[in-house]
Amino acid sequence: MKHTWVRAVVSAGVLLAWLAMPAPAGADARRQQSPDPPQAGYIGADACLTCHEGYDTAVNSSKHAFAKDPRTPAAAYGCESCHGPGEAHSQDPASVKVKIFTKLSASETNETCLTCHDRGQHAMWNGSAHDSRNMSCGSCHSVHQPKSARAQLAAVNQTQQCATCHRDKVSKLDRSGHMPVREGKMECSSCHNVHGSTNVRLLKAGNTVSESCTSCHAEKRGPFLFEHAALAGDSCSTCHDPHGSSNERMLVAKQPFLCQRCHNFTRHPSTIYDSAILATNNKVFGRSCVTCHSTIHGSNHPAGSRFVR
Ligand code: HEC
Ligand code: HEC
Ligand code: HEC
Ligand code: HEC
Ligand code: HEC
Ligand code: HEC
Ligand code: HEC
Ligand code: HEC
Ligand code: HEC
Ligand code: HEC
Repeated sequence: MKHTWVRAVVSAGVLLAWLAMPAPAGADARRQQSPDPPQAGYIGADACLTCHEGYDTAVNSSKHAFAKDPRTPAAAYGCESCHGPGEAHSQDPASVKVKIFTKLSASETNETCLTCHDRGQHAMWNGSAHDSRNMSCGSCHSVHQPKSARAQLAAVNQTQQCATCHRDKVSKLDRSGHMPVREGKMECSSCHNVHGSTNVRLLKAGNTVSESCTSCHAEKRGPFLFEHAALAGDSCSTCHDPHGSSNERMLVAKQPFLCQRCHNFTRHPSTIYDSAILATNNKVFGRSCVTCHSTIHGSNHPAGSRFVR
């Protein structure tokens, strides 16, 4: 490709946008490192498309094409923002390659995407659980063939995307689980930031399971006048499975066994559930122990020390 031609294909608008843009930190660094004018070696999307017809379809309907946002590929080098400068490749496609992501290592792919996506929810990617298992952005996203309505996922929705590897968690949704997740009003990402977080288990909020839960269920946080010792420390998961379980309210065990894991002997012995006693005592059906101990997460009632009010 001749240089004059090159200039022609870089549309004036794009060039102006590039020059005028408040460059992100990454781009600043790149420009300082490179004495070349920004467009050296770059031929622009139109030139790529003369040989790679159709590869702009998905890109154009994504945020990557939003040229008014100075941080997008459209406002920078188009296809070449990701694939790298293509002038030499276009002159000799068989021997000179641009970046072929399906052949690159995970870390090389990630490095490319992270030149732009290194802030906000992506700031913690490096060293995160997914990164350290050698996954790439492309393990979940597809730039050219996204199937989801949101976030360019490779699967039709988030649940299906996660299910490709975490089938066990997704299966639990069919049981007693967070109803809004099944209904699509909540997602795995309501609780997790899969791009990495400072918290355990890629949790979005709170560095303990309980802190994560009480970020939404604030009324369970306390402090209460009477605390149930079972809720001390990091403990919601002592009784609940966040992903769902076979018991109502996502409880990890059926009642009364849930309580009896800890309460062997009480003034009314836990053995009230012996078959002999059950046959004669009809007070204990229904919600079992919490029929009476209804403030099981803690009580603020002056007479609530037994969590019955
Ligand atoms: C003159 C035609 C031509 C132009 C212009 C061109 N390419 Fe290519 N490109 C090819 C050919 C031919 C191949 C296949 C080469 C091979 O497999 O040996 C190819 C391969 C590729 C591949 C790897 C595809 C694969 O399946 O392995 C990518 C990615 C690519 N080009 C991107 C680009 C981008 C981005 C641009 C614009 C900067 C561009 N190409 C410009 C002809 C072109
Ligand atoms: C945001 C980064 C990005 C932009 C912009 C982009 N691509 Fe891609 N391209 C990718 C990734 C990642 C893949 C791997 C498959 C996927 O994710 O869909 C890919 C795959 C390809 C392939 C097939 C290579 C393979 O491995 O199968 C071609 C050809 C290609 N892109 C050409 C283009 C052209 C032409 C443009 C501009 C119209 C473009 N790309 C814009 C990231 C990008
Ligand atoms: C030149 C900068 C740049 C590069 C390189 C880049 N992106 Fe983006 N991307 C953006 C901007 C800007 C947006 C829109 C604002 C946002 O969501 O941060 C965006 C949006 C996205 C979105 C959200 C799309 C939506 O519709 O919600 C995904 C997913 C994404 N990029 C993935 C990738 C992947 C994967 C790569 C690497 C193959 C990549 N990006 C490379 C700049 C870039
Ligand atoms: C384990 C799967 C997975 C991996 C790996 C992954 N993502 Fe995502 N990404 C998601 C999901 C799910 C969402 C939607 C999250 C949401 O709705 O909050 C998302 C959302 C995004 C968005 C849109 C954010 C927004 O605010 O709309 C961008 C941009 C993005 N990812 C970029 C990347 C980049 C860059 C990488 C690689 C460093 C990457 N992702 C790796 C699953 C993944
Ligand atoms: C390509 C496979 C793959 C996909 C897709 C995937 N993950 Fe993972 N995920 C893993 C692997 C591997 C680990 C590490 C498991 C381990 O260390 O035992 C992991 C770990 C996790 C962890 C635990 C992190 C920790 O600190 O222990 C969470 C939470 C998680 N993934 C959530 C998700 C969510 C949510 C999605 C969907 C948006 C998703 N993952 C999609 C492979 C995947
Ligand atoms: C209501 C919040 C919430 C939702 C929604 C949620 N998780 Fe979790 N997830 C958690 C918590 C809390 C933990 C830590 C549990 C523990 O360590 O006891 C966790 C742990 C994990 C782990 C790692 C622990 C393990 O047992 O391997 C994976 C993987 C995971 N979640 C995947 C998913 C997937 C996939 C989805 C969507 C189907 C999802 N999560 C939805 C809160 C949630
Ligand atoms: C992102 C917000 C969010 C987080 C984080 C969250 N929840 Fe929920 N939870 C909800 C919503 C919304 C509902 C449905 C509320 C309703 O129907 O009234 C719900 C319902 C529940 C229910 C009742 C289920 C039923 O069958 O009625 C339990 C139990 C529960 N959550 C426990 C937890 C636990 C334990 C955690 C921490 C692992 C947690 N939640 C984290 C939003 C959240
Ligand atoms: C000692 C066991 C236990 C612990 C620990 C526990 N729960 Fe519960 N939780 C229960 C039981 C039992 C129910 C069912 C109560 C009922 O049916 O009235 C329940 C019900 C719920 C509900 C739905 C009904 C309601 O009261 O809103 C939510 C939400 C909930 N728990 C959140 C949490 C959170 C958040 C934590 C951690 C701070 C937690 N639980 C810790 C036993 C426990
Ligand atoms: C993880 C262990 C654990 C589980 C599970 C548990 N508890 Fe507790 N509970 C405790 C501990 C420890 C105390 C404090 C006992 C003490 O101070 O003597 C306590 C205190 C109580 C008290 C007040 C007793 C007193 O002497 O003040 C009641 C009532 C109670 N629990 C009921 C229940 C019920 C009902 C369930 C099931 C929904 C349950 N607990 C599940 C550990 C547990
Ligand atoms: C019919 C109502 C009822 C049911 C059902 C019930 N309790 Fe109680 N429980 C009470 C009352 C009332 C007290 C307070 C007695 C007092 O203060 O003297 C109490 C006290 C307790 C105490 C503290 C007493 C002690 O030993 O110091 C524990 C622990 C306890 N219950 C656990 C349970 C467990 C576990 C279950 C289920 C197996 C259960 N309760 C079912 C009404 C009930």
